[in-house]
Amino acid sequence: MPALVLLGAQWGDEGKGKATDLLGGSVDYVVRYQGGNNAGHTVVVGDQKYALHLLPSGILSPTCVPVIGNGVVVDPSVLLSELSGLNERGVDTSKLLISGNAHIITPYNVTVDKVTERFLGKRKIGTTGRGIGPTYADKINRVGIRVQDLYDESILTQKVEASLGAKNQMLTKLYNRRAIATEQVVEELLGYAEKLAPYVADTVLVLNQALEENKVVLFEGGQGTLLDIDHGTYPFVTSSNPTAGGACTGSGVGPTKISRVIGILKAYTTRVGAGPFPTELFDEDGAALRRIGGERGVTTGRDRRCGWFDAVIARYATRVNGLTDFFLTKLDVLTGWEQIPVCVAYEIDGKRVEELPYSQTDFHHAKPIYETLPGWSEDITKAKSFADLPKNAQNYVKALEEMSGAPISAIGVGPGRDETIEINSFL
Ligand code: IMP
Repeated sequence: MPALVLLGAQWGDEGKGKATDLLGGSVDYVVRYQGGNNAGHTVVVGDQKYALHLLPSGILSPTCVPVIGNGVVVDPSVLLSELSGLNERGVDTSKLLISGNAHIITPYNVTVDKVTERFLGKRKIGTTGRGIGPTYADKINRVGIRVQDLYDESILTQKVEASLGAKNQMLTKLYNRRAIATEQVVEELLGYAEKLAPYVADTVLVLNQALEENKVVLFEGGQGTLLDIDHGTYPFVTSSNPTAGGACTGSGVGPTKISRVIGILKAYTTRVGAGPFPTELFDEDGAALRRIGGERGVTTGRDRRCGWFDAVIARYATRVNGLTDFFLTKLDVLTGWEQIPVCVAYEIDGKRVEELPYSQTDFHHAKPIYETLPGWSEDITKAKSFADLPKNAQNYVKALEEMSGAPISAIGVGPGRDETIEINSFL
């Protein structure tokens, strides 16, 4: 059976939680492969709304094993409070597996995230302040702390000491902060060890064995394609690889096992944090998209920047991820506009450009070239099939599909679990 990847095709917050949940019943494992508690998924089950940050959304499906892969960065205190919050609401979390190779977000990584952002001033990235970047930096610098280190006090102490050496110099001399004591960090981390122990596993082995047994494994990307450290709008990106390749490195499952890569695509565009955004709207339309779409960050509570659909970005997402399908979300938010502009290309320094420029300078100069499509005013939230959609909504979807380079196989027409039109099955 297949391994599928679900990932954000834009700047994140496309509504992945809903898509994962839709598949939940037929999926055996849901795996997060990168990022940490910078992510935010809202999943609606019945009349209950769940905001998940670190846990895979499969945690809400009783038949599914949720997995935190080696590519994820884990803040143990956030993880434990997210688990106990779910337990209090009657959700069974006992099946969760956490890779022993996943890196730990230590308290000093969070401190470094905050002080470096402050130091960058107006050049700041607008991070979520959760310690994500500094933890991945420690991983790449080979001074990171992994989940397995919690079970060897001597190794843990040596590693924390090594990692803190340079950071304390930086904190005290550059940022005028107090030094952080090794013992204090070690004590806090050891305090999590026992509570996390039942979940820690060799997830590479588990997942590969599951695939050999024909189980369905779903990889759930956090953030989105344009926030990818390699393929996104660097430096205004997150510090991991949400793109499809990240599913392999972040889980230990080879690319030959992946049969489907589904890009979640919002019917318009949003972005949180700083960085270029060609179709961003600063007018009443932008405010209306934010209001109607409820575009406020699940993790940070920040208002999302909003703009029209950008087909250049969608085509780019198809290319860098090898997308086989799109899941178009939040189509209902566009109900009521008489005309809906869609960006089909950019004008960069007087030239028409069809594809995303690799040059940061060019992208900062990109001005959207719009085509305007007729809107619809009928309520579409009860539509069960493509044919139930008003003609203009059908045409909007068809136009997006044509411009974006992969079939739109599902459409979200409302936040609820059943407010989805399935066109082609993902399984
Ligand atoms: P970091 O991931 O906290 O380092 O933040 C880096 C950039 O990614 C900032 O612009 C954040 O706003 C953005 N970001 C991180 N996680 C998400 C997400 O789940 N959705 C949307 N933007 C995100």
